[in-house]
Amino acid sequence: MKKIGVGIVGAGTVGSGLIQILLEKRQDIAKRSGVDLELLFVCDKNNSIKQTYPQLGFTSDYLELISNKNIDLIVELVGGTGIAYNIVKDSIKAGKTVVTANKALLSEKGDELFSLAKENSVEIGYEAAVAGTIPIIRSLKTGLVANEFKAVYGILNGTTNFILSKMEKENWDYEKALQVAQDLGFAEKDPTFDVEGIDAAHKVSLLTGLAFGKRIDIKDIYIEGITKISQSEIQTAKQLGYRIKLLGISKMISGNIEARVQPTMVPLKHSLASVMNEMNAIYIESDFAGSLMFTGKGAGSLPTASAVASDLVYYGSRRGNHDCFEDNIFDKGNIIPHGQETSRYYIRFNTVDKPGVIAEISNHLGKNNVSIASVRQDESESEPIEVIILTHRCKEQDVHRSIEVIDNLSIILKKSVMLRLEDLH
Ligand code: HSE
Repeated sequence: MKKIGVGIVGAGTVGSGLIQILLEKRQDIAKRSGVDLELLFVCDKNNSIKQTYPQLGFTSDYLELISNKNIDLIVELVGGTGIAYNIVKDSIKAGKTVVTANKALLSEKGDELFSLAKENSVEIGYEAAVAGTIPIIRSLKTGLVANEFKAVYGILNGTTNFILSKMEKENWDYEKALQVAQDLGFAEKDPTFDVEGIDAAHKVSLLTGLAFGKRIDIKDIYIEGITKISQSEIQTAKQLGYRIKLLGISKMISGNIEARVQPTMVPLKHSLASVMNEMNAIYIESDFAGSLMFTGKGAGSLPTASAVASDLVYYGSRRGNHDCFEDNIFDKGNIIPHGQETSRYYIRFNTVDKPGVIAEISNHLGKNNVSIASVRQDESESEPIEVIILTHRCKEQDVHRSIEVIDNLSIILKKSVMLRLEDLH
């Protein structure tokens, strides 16, 4: 049996889950995988771990783990792009394969770190970096290796999915849903990374590399968060047969990549629409395997640690075998510039109640090549009147142009709202 020495740097939420798994499940994991994961050392600033697990080596200096000859794999669970960068870099330089859950680090510095890993003949495992417990990295790399992928759609952030779900189901406004998410520990005190779509964008960049073999920088991804989503959009979407989800989307279209994170209307009958609360999901369209959906917990101690443990077994079993080296080094992808993408769209115009309003709106949409699929206006005793339009597939830029003109007309009382609509089947 292959014995693999493991060192963990960072014993926070995921780190303590991993310690629990490695101590409680060592025999079971070894029996199932043939890899005996021996947890030798934990590094953390806080030494409470030392008291809880006196049988483990403990240090507050990660370099001690790196110089320990018995440690084969280093697990980086510190997070962020500061000290975590040094931990990963120093480990690689010392010839240690690294396992990490750090999407921000790999999305921003992956190019450099994967190249460094290749130079040093080691690898970087990051199963836990995308959608927590869902084994999506391994599925894309090996499980679905025979396939060409067309598109990857993901609900990649549990916090925002929780907020949108509660806004719809409990009729809460955004602030209340965010507060509850914070009280339950899903959302950080400063929720910017989650609610502004940045966390999901890091995951989209990693998924794009895996699905299409192309590198895209975070700045190439069009990112829109959920802070502008109101009850009005959520309830209207539902009446129209859709649900709003913060979708991470990566598509290959004639050799070019469309990559974005955006609140998107998804048909209620599509499986992605049924993924509620803090759950994550990834929906893939491929040529041979067809469409597949993976769903599960995208965060949390044991769910994320379960994905880390799977990397430890995988990279542990490969140690020293460089015939099938995974380098994760991709050519830069050609990005479809924002505005040039085509999709269907939802637009809410807030108008006066006078003859000719709809004619005026449709005239401007028509002039900009935006074709209307449906129009809805409910009777109302007071202005503004909501005119809801669903478009046929058109260029996003053309919709923006039309709205810019229409919003300056005297028939408009309040800024219009536009959402992407994905006609997923
Ligand atoms: N904060 C993330 C979420 C989990 O809410 O899904 C880590 O990426």
